[in-house]
Amino acid sequence: MKTILITGGAGFIGSHVVRRFVNKYPDCKIVNLDKLTYAGNLNNLRDIEKKPNYEFVRADIVDGALMKELFVKYKFDSVIHLAAESHVDRSISNPMEFINTNILGTVNLLNAARLTWENMADKRFYHISTDEVYGSLGETGYFYEDTAYDPRSPYSASKASSDHLVRAYFHTYKLPVVISNCSNNYGSFQFPEKLIPLSIHNIKNNKPIPIYGKGENIRDWLFVEDHASAIDLIYHTAKTGETYNIGGHNEWTNISLIYLLCEIMDRKLHRHAGESASLITFVKDRAGHDLRYAIDSTKIQRELGWRPSLQFGEGLEKTVDWYLANEAWMNDVTSGDYQKYYDKQYVKR
Ligand code: NAD
Ligand code: DAU
Repeated sequence: MKTILITGGAGFIGSHVVRRFVNKYPDCKIVNLDKLTYAGNLNNLRDIEKKPNYEFVRADIVDGALMKELFVKYKFDSVIHLAAESHVDRSISNPMEFINTNILGTVNLLNAARLTWENMADKRFYHISTDEVYGSLGETGYFYEDTAYDPRSPYSASKASSDHLVRAYFHTYKLPVVISNCSNNYGSFQFPEKLIPLSIHNIKNNKPIPIYGKGENIRDWLFVEDHASAIDLIYHTAKTGETYNIGGHNEWTNISLIYLLCEIMDRKLHRHAGESASLITFVKDRAGHDLRYAIDSTKIQRELGWRPSLQFGEGLEKTVDWYLANEAWMNDVTSGDYQKYYDKQYVKR
């Protein structure tokens, strides 16, 4: 039985990847290693937690000695590394957490793999990264796999550093690595600090929807289960040393996305047209706010045959339905000082 280590499996994307692998590959043992920060939540995995091929280990990837011990104990055959601090705004107010987890934590995992894997031929270290490493686009153009790195926030700089280190271990120690860089994900189980779940939560509770600057920044949105399907495909079929960009070819300005979301929310909550949109509040812009991200995903489509399965309208409806049906999940993650923290964040423009 192969043992796959998935880090960050209690988070948003990680929980979708864990669920997919546990259900689809009963002959593989899936070990989910997660520190359970504010963003990690074992409620994201209740439906699979009792499966015989699943085990959860609470651990911090910043603890290098522990990582080595766990690699010896579990004899991992491969790693899918998603654990990270992931929110750009938090990286602006507290960069050190990002340096520790995203850079040191990744190096600890690389070292543990390098020092405990004897035969590299049948191993795989798959690092999950972001399109933000490429910086910010103007009104035209796309990010390709060979676009030069130009990270501009502490978050993206920490992810770029980790990507460089992963490639350095490939070239220097022949560690069998693969990397993918994905655009903005949306879907169920996303912590309500990111634009879509935060806005759904605020609309539901008649609170202001904070839009940074003029809402003209552009993101390229992908349904999280389509990201998980791309990860599955890359994990199983990519050539060692390769990088793949993953994106939905689905660009939206923040403000037009929020108008679409407001229309859906009005319908689902039986409100009159325009009621949710009246909550839109323009607030002070994010420092160093990247203007536009857009992924060219031709390589993964051509070489591996991957395609996103959902149109954005369909995915967004599904997402709204999930949050409205899972009020208990939302109440749980927004308990404690969540509201105090977010109410403090915004200064009206
Ligand atoms: P998330 O914040 O929802 O989850 C991160 C998980 O990592 C949490 O479960 C958290 O508890 C865990 N974690 C954090 N620090 C840890 C540590 N020191 N040790 C062990 N576990 C730790 O993040 P996400 O949005 O699911 O992103 C997952 C990965 O995908 C990240 O590497 C992120 O950079 C990348 N990514 C995210 C997106 C996106 O749109 N969300 C897009 C592209 C790439
Ligand atoms: O591109 C991939 C990246 O996408 C991932 O690597 C990150 O982990 C993920 O958090 C996401 O980063 P963004 O900064 O693009 O996501 P966020 O949801 O925070 O913001 C999306 C856009 O919406 C961005 O232009 C900022 C804006 N925004 C965000 C929030 C939270 C607002 O206008 N108001 C808000 O309240």
